Amino acid sequence: MADKARAFKDGHIYHVMTMGQNTMPSYARQITAIERWAIIDYVRALQRSQAPTAEDLATSGGAIGKAGDLSTTSGAVRKPSNAK
Ligand code: HEM
Repeated sequence: MADKARAFKDGHIYHVMTMGQNTMPSYARQITAIERWAIIDYVRALQRSQAPTAEDLATSGGAIGKAGDLSTTSGAVRKPSNAK
């Protein structure tokens, strides 16, 4: 299901929330259009957090450092350079 949900187009998720599908009711009356798009953004952020790409992990001076660090230290995230 996780992969299936990742492959859904944003518009598909929006449509199901808006119109309902089979046994899932429409949420258009409870959730505004803006909120429905915000939910999709939130779900996408959760999906990325569970399957980050090297690009997602590459930060500028953050705790994780450059892409590739995760694979060099038996899975351990190294300490940030300013760590005590
Ligand atoms: C706002 C949050 C929600 C989102 C973003 C969402 C999204 C979706 C999507 C995209 C699908 C379609 C999956 C597909 O096409 O295969 C789906 C199916 C379904 N959802 Fe939701 N859903 C939400 C809330 C809920 C809630 C609260 C319920 C239960 C009360 C529910 C019950 C269902 C059910 C039963 C299905 C299967 C419908 C079918 O047979 O196709 N959903 N949902």
